Amino acid sequence: MVPLLEEIRDVRSAVASARREGKIVGLVPTMGALHAGHARLIERCRAESGFVVVSIFVNPTQFGPNEDYQRYPRTIENDLNVCRDAGADLIFAPSVSTMYPRGASSTFVEVPGLSEKLEGASRPGHFRGVATVVLKLFEIVRPDLAFFGEKDYQQLLVIRRMVDDLNVPVEIRPVPTVREEDGLALSSRNRYLDPDQRRAARVLSQALQRAKQAVADGERSADRVRQILRERIELEGWANLDYAEVADAETLDPATEVGAGLRAVALLAVRFGTTRLIDNAILSG
Ligand code: PAJ
Repeated sequence: MVPLLEEIRDVRSAVASARREGKIVGLVPTMGALHAGHARLIERCRAESGFVVVSIFVNPTQFGPNEDYQRYPRTIENDLNVCRDAGADLIFAPSVSTMYPRGASSTFVEVPGLSEKLEGASRPGHFRGVATVVLKLFEIVRPDLAFFGEKDYQQLLVIRRMVDDLNVPVEIRPVPTVREEDGLALSSRNRYLDPDQRRAARVLSQALQRAKQAVADGERSADRVRQILRERIELEGWANLDYAEVADAETLDPATEVGAGLRAVALLAVRFGTTRLIDNAILSG
């Protein structure tokens, strides 16, 4: 079994001995409920690092008051197996009081500009919670490399910006989204979907495919691509659109034009009952 540590000092000393052996240290931050998407991150980390740390921490500060913090799936037995099979060397699973001994009055990290739009507009304070916990994890583990999924595209940009702005000595490695056979991006929240909603949830990747196809066929107008996304989602009775945006892939500012030479990304958030799913695709010309 992969050793599971709950205390910061124990993680620090395990990482220090790996370093003394000259190993490159990689970190995969997660909230547990691990699936094949997380496994891919761990495998990529294994391929590039001599010592693979996976953190499992359902971070309360990134959930809004009406979100699913309490019911977020906790599947530690399965998580241990996923970590072992994917090649982790160490699991760091701290308690809330270990991470936030002073509670809500702790210091926090804010990444303005990128954080307020899209996910940040729908989930105020979300990226402050994410950036803060990720910087804490970086300070605890001090990894050389850290792996993040493109599935959470805005999160990846926020972390990159934080690392750049604060000169954190870690390299951020993006990992492409792992999908079910029908295109649905793997997510710990997919298990909330009932069978009708699960079928309907294909609409995210289908809408993104249509948008990509339109751009490949020469569509240049970002508004027209937004309309393609919206129309596809609205056809699906079980789906409620939260946002369908086409944005600059670096700044996430709304795009006016897409196509050759312009790096744009299509981003979707869609609700199925109380379950909210996100997905995205790079639109290249
Ligand atoms: P969590 O949702 O558990 O995701 C952990 C990592 O797995 C993230 O980098 C996420 O982008 C990646 N991931 C999730 N689904 C994926 C998929 N289908 N394909 C590829 N990668 C996928 O994201 C978080 O946790 C938290 O915000 C965290 C960064 C741990 C901070 O608390």
